[in-house]
Amino acid sequence: MFERNDSGKIKMDTIAVLDFGGQYSHLIARRVRDLGVYAEVHLPGILIEELKNLPGLKGIILSGGAASVYNEDSPKCDKEILKLGIPILGICYGHQLIAYFEGGDIQASDSGEYGVTELSILSKCSLLEGLGSVEQVWMNHGDQVQGLPSGFSLLASSDNSPVAAFSHPGRKIYGVQFHPEVIHTRGGDRILKNFVINICKAQKEWGTDDIVNRIYEDIEASVAGRKCIIGLSGGVDSSTAAVLVGNKIGKDLVAVYVDTGLMRHRETEFMEEVFSKMDLDLRIIHARNRFFEALKGITEPEHKRKIIGKLFIDIFDEIAKQEQAEVLIQGTIYSDRIESGLTQHSDNIKSHHNVGGLPEDLPLEIYEPLRDLYKDEVRRIGEKIGLANNIVHRHVFPGPGLAIRIIGEVTPERADIVRRAGHIIEEELMSAGLYYKVWMGFAVLLPIKTVGIQGDSRSYKYPIVIRIIESRDAMTANFAKVPFELLERISTRITNQIREVNRVVYDISNKPPATMEWE
Ligand code: XMP
Repeated sequence: MFERNDSGKIKMDTIAVLDFGGQYSHLIARRVRDLGVYAEVHLPGILIEELKNLPGLKGIILSGGAASVYNEDSPKCDKEILKLGIPILGICYGHQLIAYFEGGDIQASDSGEYGVTELSILSKCSLLEGLGSVEQVWMNHGDQVQGLPSGFSLLASSDNSPVAAFSHPGRKIYGVQFHPEVIHTRGGDRILKNFVINICKAQKEWGTDDIVNRIYEDIEASVAGRKCIIGLSGGVDSSTAAVLVGNKIGKDLVAVYVDTGLMRHRETEFMEEVFSKMDLDLRIIHARNRFFEALKGITEPEHKRKIIGKLFIDIFDEIAKQEQAEVLIQGTIYSDRIESGLTQHSDNIKSHHNVGGLPEDLPLEIYEPLRDLYKDEVRRIGEKIGLANNIVHRHVFPGPGLAIRIIGEVTPERADIVRRAGHIIEEELMSAGLYYKVWMGFAVLLPIKTVGIQGDSRSYKYPIVIRIIESRDAMTANFAKVPFELLERISTRITNQIREVNRVVYDISNKPPATMEWE
């Protein structure tokens, strides 16, 4: 999407974040991007040559991670990166790794340090400029640096970390034991800004306008003059991708919305209303019967996902042939690529998203204009190009749709129950002013029946699960602590309005250990 060098790398001032498996590696990249500077996450095993090849590389941040540097299997980068002459900041495990490479002393501490801690700043340095002499920071470590490597200076310490921050200003190498990227570190943004802007001297080339302009340039260079198709799901990613590409190539883009029968309440009408106002060639494909037929008797979650994924591909393939399209546009974003194995340590939890799920012999070129963006960046772009609030800030809806919210067999009747229950949850969240505050709220239908009493008679009906989630980035999530009164209103409406249901439960699981969706 952006101007790239010969190896396809983005050409602009860049901070590389090496991901040692820490929970917060992507948060570091997002914080840097919030400063207006482009950041990208790489595996620790990246070759020095590859790093040097990143156009505009201005600095490297080594992330945290759960391992101990003395452990043989612990992830390590090539220690030669410390000799590149490019500023380096190590965070937590990254801090310990720098000390380890440079001959410092790292030890397992008796107690570790987890949570908010006071940091005493002992000497002035450009990394900690603007901070007070005592600062609140957030720590999360067992091992710690006990002795400085030679040539390094001590910058700060805490009760449990004698070397909580160090620097080698001559070589522009810095380490902090705490996490500046986490909001509980009060001066964290200032520290990252000191590093990225003052020490690395990176230019702010990552503003929303810059991104939009670069995407337009890239669309022009990549697909202009060719017939393209895009699958519209009603979510912000595919909608943003469609409008961006549509703005540039007009009628050469065919946007396809497939009514699978597994979509949200009145979704097809909603799509017609929203996109008929835009200059987009929208085709609505009514394929409910095909989907329900293919899913008959299928209960295993991965099997459902595979069947649905294949049907989508078949449909796109058919339309591409009719339209003589050459390119399939996808709304894939950066975090989709992470969850699909961009990071070394990620496991295939679900056959998520479209990434990697396409057949190898698909006779279409794939183009992903949003592949380098995080969700909040896509939302900012969506707003910029005039997408309405009810698209930009809509709750995420999974590709396989309601099928993965119906535990057990998917039938039209069961899809209808879960769709109506989900709609009640969304409506009640909206009236309580909570819809845009939570990540998502939806219903799950269980394949069991329980006994109830309705109108003085025994009933034997399905239970519905309410799932309301708070999350920043979908990687981790908490169940939302919504008022009981709201849950009661939802429960009463569901049991009054959906005659197949007599019981409603609230899912109080976080992610991990649960995932947001039930399948
Ligand atoms: P999980 O269930 O993995 O979901 O915690 C995280 C977020 O991703 C959405 N999700 C999907 N989105 N295709 C998608 O486009 C999928 O197959 C898929 N599965 C889950 C989920 O709704 C949540 O927001």
